[in-house]
Amino acid sequence: MLLTERERLREELIALADQFGRQRSSLMPILQEVERRHFRISEYCMQVIADLLDLHPVEVHSVVSFYSFLDESPRGQFVIRLCRTITCEMAGKDHVARQLENDLGITFGQTTPDGKFTLQWANCLGMCDQGPALLVNDQIFTRVTPERVHGILQECRQTFGVHAVAGAKER
Ligand code: FES
Repeated sequence: MLLTERERLREELIALADQFGRQRSSLMPILQEVERRHFRISEYCMQVIADLLDLHPVEVHSVVSFYSFLDESPRGQFVIRLCRTITCEMAGKDHVARQLENDLGITFGQTTPDGKFTLQWANCLGMCDQGPALLVNDQIFTRVTPERVHGILQECRQTFGVHAVAGAKER
């Protein structure tokens, strides 16, 4: 018998709970894994996870809402997170932000209609002495200038279909 999408998702979450454990401390690893696989954590997923870990759904929801790396709504293949904390602010993050928005035709918080790029703000990425800093999925770019934005996006487009940005290194 074919499983419905929800049944399949539920089985996947049960397997994750078996893998990571059903204690409170398993919540974050499970959420991160769901995010990695599905690029979002739906309301239904949150309910099932709460059920499996014996947590209140509001608790799961508040964790997802708190961490900018966890998304309730669908996001693009490439999530670009630009640091907006004070040091990067002073290093010129606004110019980089404007260039990203111009090149992609979206504003922060949005995803391009083709589903390739999502722009998000991030808080300090731990590269304060090399700002402005941004993350593309899990690859960090430092000392980003508006001029570099085009090349970074180009690199993403060339690697579309690959989960990470191949060859993108900290620099
Ligand atoms: S302030 Fe931007 S990386 Fe720390």
